[in-house]
Amino acid sequence: MAIRDIARMGHPALGRPAEEVADPKDPAIVELVSDMIETMHAAGGVGLAAPQIAVPKRVLVFELPVAEEVEGARERALTVLINPVIEPVGTEMEEGWEGCLSLPGMAGLVPRHAKVRYRGVTPAGEAIAREASGFHARVVQHEADHLDGILYPMRIKDLAHFGYVDEMEKKHPEL
Ligand code: NI
Repeated sequence: MAIRDIARMGHPALGRPAEEVADPKDPAIVELVSDMIETMHAAGGVGLAAPQIAVPKRVLVFELPVAEEVEGARERALTVLINPVIEPVGTEMEEGWEGCLSLPGMAGLVPRHAKVRYRGVTPAGEAIAREASGFHARVVQHEADHLDGILYPMRIKDLAHFGYVDEMEKKHPEL
């Protein structure tokens, strides 16, 4: 396990499409996933895609709060998704604030599909197929975009809603 450097916007690794993983059980992929989880935790992020540590593979990890609060602390559930495929369910779009470990300190208001269906495999070779809405759907779309070289500012409709979190807090206390 190792904490890896996170590429920031402008790094070429973030701007190109990542390759399919031929064998999810390949020890190199298992090690990559373990490094991604450790790096995400160290950086305090919700999700991380392999291109963010300059590895051009279609691998992402994310961690979401489970609905139930346990003794004041929200339990979190980790998902590792290899070769993800995402399709929108319906046509509804939703705007929501996003940040990214590749743009530290910044946030923007990004339109996403309100509901999606996604599938992929785990490093154990097990299939994952889920429907997601709300924050879950947003995180999956954000992370999968990294695999196609897309960063969230590229999806912002109005750049007036993009900036440094510590500057925007006064206007948007929800940040
Ligand atoms: Ni990101």
